[in-house]
Amino acid sequence: MIKVDDVVYATFRAPDLDRMENFLVDFGLMRAHRTESHLYMRACGRDQYAHITELGDPAFVGMGFRAKSEKDLFTLADKEGCSSVAQLDRPGGGKYVQLTDPNGFKVEVVHGIDTVKPLELKNNYKFNFGNDTERYNEFIRLKKGPTQCLRLGHVVIGVSDFKESNKFYKSNFGFLDSDVCYEGDKENVILAFNRVDRGKEYVDHHTLLTAPTGKPELGHIAFEVQDINAIYLGHEHLHSKGYDHSWGVGRHILGSQIFDYWFDPFGNRVEHWTDGDLLNNSSPTGVHPYSSRFATQWGVTEDSRK
Ligand SMILES: [Fe+2]
Repeated sequence: MIKVDDVVYATFRAPDLDRMENFLVDFGLMRAHRTESHLYMRACGRDQYAHITELGDPAFVGMGFRAKSEKDLFTLADKEGCSSVAQLDRPGGGKYVQLTDPNGFKVEVVHGIDTVKPLELKNNYKFNFGNDTERYNEFIRLKKGPTQCLRLGHVVIGVSDFKESNKFYKSNFGFLDSDVCYEGDKENVILAFNRVDRGKEYVDHHTLLTAPTGKPELGHIAFEVQDINAIYLGHEHLHSKGYDHSWGVGRHILGSQIFDYWFDPFGNRVEHWTDGDLLNNSSPTGVHPYSSRFATQWGVTEDSRK
């Protein structure tokens, strides 16, 4: 088994690349590359692209995880159901191995894609907390407009058979359980918040969430933003453009993120989040009833979710 390092991008199909690009610019991504048939959008970080759209009927296609080494790609390629290692025909090159998950989603594991220069943040201010002040002789003056997405943080998929999907992702990519939810008996786990295993290094509470929706579907993809100012600036901008809001602003319990969810023009849910929990491999798994999966600590309640 290999242990993937992170999620890097999500891939969609849409019949109108202009419409997708316009939304994503308002959401806080920037065009990295565009062809007749493909749109590549980047966030502010070092990854070439974080969102890919192929021209076609609307669909969520799948996601790409980064392998820790090229050797890991060859290890993975030896497993049943995996393609051989091949060159990526995309900006930044690199190599990949492709799998299909039990729901039919395409999963690519990549390595060696050239990195790009990070983009400067527009609204980057220190916070003065009550007992921990850092900002002196400096005023917060936020610039309105699209917020800036820092990176793709996680993907949530609805699956037809939780146990089968959970086994697929854990056994192929080495995910750890941060929190799991059960129905009835505590042993009857039906939802998992998966984090990557980087040993002692701290990582996001979840990189992949598999949820029992009874059919393969995208739950959402989620981009990290700088802070709560970035959440609200993004919210106001998307609202002013008339986009369809899903849920937020609020703070989750599981993962602790401050969140705000929107829909792209093709019905895919996309999230801005900030200030999530960071765990390493010593953190124990939390066990919770299924009914608590969307519970919030403040802001909107779970029953207002669209
Ligand atoms: Fe999320």
